[in-house]
Amino acid sequence: MDYSIETAPLEKLQSDCIIVGVYQDKHLSPAADAINTSTQGMVSQLLERGDLSGKNGETVLINVAPGSHARILVVGLGEHKPLSTKNFCKALAAAALSLRKTPVKHAVSTLAECAVTDADWNWKSRQTVQAFADSVYQYTHTKSDKATESKLEKLSITAPEAQLAFAQTGMAQGVAIAEGISLTKFLSDLPGNICTPSFLAEQASQVASQSAQMTVTILEEADMEELGMGSFLSVTRGSREPAKLICLHYQGAASSEKPIVLVGKGLTFDAGGISLKPGPGMDEMKYDMCGGAAVIGTLKAAAQMQLPLNVIGLVPSSENLPDGNANKPGDIWTSMAGKTIEILNTDAEGRLILCDTLTYAERFNPDVVIDLATLTGACLVALGRIPSGLLGNDDDLCQDLQTASETANDSIWRLPLWEEYQELLQSNFADMANIGGKDAGTITAACFLSRFAENFRWAHLDIAGTAWRSGQNKGATGRPVPLLCQYLLDRAVKLDA
Ligand code: BES
Ligand code: MN
Ligand code: ZN
Repeated sequence: MDYSIETAPLEKLQSDCIIVGVYQDKHLSPAADAINTSTQGMVSQLLERGDLSGKNGETVLINVAPGSHARILVVGLGEHKPLSTKNFCKALAAAALSLRKTPVKHAVSTLAECAVTDADWNWKSRQTVQAFADSVYQYTHTKSDKATESKLEKLSITAPEAQLAFAQTGMAQGVAIAEGISLTKFLSDLPGNICTPSFLAEQASQVASQSAQMTVTILEEADMEELGMGSFLSVTRGSREPAKLICLHYQGAASSEKPIVLVGKGLTFDAGGISLKPGPGMDEMKYDMCGGAAVIGTLKAAAQMQLPLNVIGLVPSSENLPDGNANKPGDIWTSMAGKTIEILNTDAEGRLILCDTLTYAERFNPDVVIDLATLTGACLVALGRIPSGLLGNDDDLCQDLQTASETANDSIWRLPLWEEYQELLQSNFADMANIGGKDAGTITAACFLSRFAENFRWAHLDIAGTAWRSGQNKGATGRPVPLLCQYLLDRAVKLDA
């Protein structure tokens, strides 16, 4: 997809489709008003006849209009007042979706001209790019027919001359973030027989090779052995694919600057191991590497935006399968931190690969560590598929993530990590058990991780409900790349100030 910012008046712009907004009190945005005049009142007729109410996210496509070569997509914006960031994104997503099955190749969006609370042109143009890129993405890698539903090749965003520079910066950031999201979705959607730990490592290496400021190191099982990662290595015992610990280093600041470390669970297929999962829906456990994919996607975006930060991405990657050599309930292993772990359920494997990676993160003297993992089915029970779960040991870091999540329209919700929950991990035979029983599964999983994150500021995102959609529209969402990129952008701005 190509993107551009246009400051010329609408009637001077060539395209297949002009996107304009209307409010539910029948008020027309300036662009809608101009189009209405040049098309003998087509837009206001829609409203008067009741074909469009102006409710947020409603759309009507006028295929043929007098006085216009282009189609006109009229989008409802909702109440006639500054839009919330959420509603602005919702209107954009609806606009993008309604063009998906049309022949439109080049669209012009005028929606950024509408007022949005607490948003500038940088943000509005960035979100416009992200919304359209999101709807254009379609997985075809293992389909014979590679034709995509969307024919869109170019999106132009109209902006006033005075805002050109902001809109252009926002567009460039939007393109970088969108590419990170689309790589994340692609890696996530790939099947487990293609997307193995070795494949993920190759993909990360490719991302690193595209930036002069990025390097990659891949730790092999022998390296992990030497480091004493007994917990991580126990998970890969049942697998014939070699496990990898992928380390991406992006250096955008002086090496004296402490890095932000992102850790992503990269379980390329989770059958549960000896504590085998039930059959129905097990295919979706190819998505158990979404956290790892999001780390790779975020680092790609950070490098493309040339952020003045040091960011390290760590992706522990393995499969979790039943086998004669696999982890068994009751087995006890020693983690890299020296703490012993009794495996009471081999399906609670994510925390086992993450805990050694958190210990490994210490050597980078991190400013903060944020891990993201499709960690617990319990997170779906607690929060559904709307927000990702947030837990952590530092209120400022959690607050920064919450702020970024609102700006990025990529929601999270914090759960408590109180000391009282820790006793649920008690084991009679080891320093801790790897599960905490029936109650508060998302919290006890985070409690387990917290024991390996005592020496730095740390936050954990449980993305089990948000990283992919189930059912007819099964597919990866690319979350929480928007949130992480916004967090990094906010950190870069703080440096500036
Ligand atoms: N990858 C799963 C978590 C998961 C399950 C994410 C379903 C999304 C949908 C994780 O490895 C797992 O199996 N967790 C167990 C933990 C339990 C054994 C304490 C779970 O959630 O059932
Ligand atoms: Mn599992
Ligand atoms: Zn898992």
